[in-house]
Amino acid sequence: MSVNEAVAVELEAVRDRTLDLVDLPEDDLRRQHSPLMSPLVWDLAHVGNYEELWLVREVGGHPAIDASIDPLYDAFRHPRPDRPSLPLLGPAEARNYLSDVRGRVLDVLETFSPDPAQPLLDGGFAFGMVIQHEHQHDETMLATRQLMLEQASPPPGTVPPPRPEVPYAGPAEVLVPGGAFTMGTDLEPWAYDNERPAHELDLAPFHIDAVPVTCGAFAEFVADGGYTDRRWWTDKGWSWREEAGVSQPEFWEPDGAGGWTVLRCGSHHPLVLDEPVAHVCWYEADAFARWAGKRLPTESEWERAASWGPDGRKCRWPWGDEPPDGSHANLGQRHDRPAAVGSYPAGASPLGVHQLIGDVWEWTSSNFAPYPGFRSFPYREYSEVFFGPEYKVLRGGSWATAPEAVRATFRNWDHPIRRQIFAGFRCARDAG
Ligand code: AVJ
Ligand code: FE
Repeated sequence: MSVNEAVAVELEAVRDRTLDLVDLPEDDLRRQHSPLMSPLVWDLAHVGNYEELWLVREVGGHPAIDASIDPLYDAFRHPRPDRPSLPLLGPAEARNYLSDVRGRVLDVLETFSPDPAQPLLDGGFAFGMVIQHEHQHDETMLATRQLMLEQASPPPGTVPPPRPEVPYAGPAEVLVPGGAFTMGTDLEPWAYDNERPAHELDLAPFHIDAVPVTCGAFAEFVADGGYTDRRWWTDKGWSWREEAGVSQPEFWEPDGAGGWTVLRCGSHHPLVLDEPVAHVCWYEADAFARWAGKRLPTESEWERAASWGPDGRKCRWPWGDEPPDGSHANLGQRHDRPAAVGSYPAGASPLGVHQLIGDVWEWTSSNFAPYPGFRSFPYREYSEVFFGPEYKVLRGGSWATAPEAVRATFRNWDHPIRRQIFAGFRCARDAG
């Protein structure tokens, strides 16, 4: 398939996904369900405005459809709590705007050639950036929908995840050898600026959990008084816990019989003990790791584990270089939640680390920082303005992440207090 054909297929697929996610009553689209999130109509038109800016105006060289709406959808001008009071396009207007933009983009694509001499066009980068952006907002919209709590509805088009044929019975941890390692990429055509440039690191050997931390393991931490034992928490983590007044992961509720139910997209479910824990913030993950006698992996350790090929050569994915299909990982909003550990043996790395990609984003110990030689591209507000200690790096994507919007080198980031995202973690420890 040519780059143009692949782009056309991906543009259509992501738009189908978006429109399914906003197939909700008008009032649900206009309302703000949480101060952490935008009204869904904001995300919807923002996605169209981003596509217009980059593909119609920048790549196509065409004038704005209506430049007066640009400031409304500029995420830096209006923080999330302010967005509901803006004169936003209504749901019908937003849908029309998206389809108008898309028509123009398909015209631009007709005559587009992926010129290697122009970084914005090389490999169809600008199109890839826009496709990934829409998928990222789709995942955000899913988190918003879940915050409608009892009023929420299941993620469109999903079926329950597979169950492992036999419960995971492999080793708890895997030893990853130390040595030279190439972090980041110069080769992935749609990699973001923050994944570049590829650079050499020397890593000490370490142990990493073979599977993500499960709900069952996390429930043991809770039952052992993990949330009230100051020893496991950093100063900042402890103040967060006290202020937020939490004593279990978001969406967990006592079932009255010593166990837990989980409120997921509108309905209560019994906690499934061998599924990866989700909706914990960085502070909770960090405290659990200390309780378990371990620590969170650094993002370089995580990437080394996720790209370790059969001979130690760097691969694009834990299982090799071929792109994910349904057998490798729980990605792409096919399922309605993370899958039990051991459900994706075909996606394990040659060292035996499972489910690094998909299921839940994994918190790492690392702050979001530029790689040596970082150059902002194509705009500072994607990555650069977020570098610093206020953001922790997450890796690997969740069940709600599109395969096009994640890879072994992909870096996500969020504040260490955030719990509405589809995030869990695994632990690591020093070897020797
Ligand atoms: C990379 C997921 C942190 O959603 O804030 C969306 C992606 N950038 N629009 C975010 C993004 C601009 C970003 N994350
Ligand atoms: Fe955005």
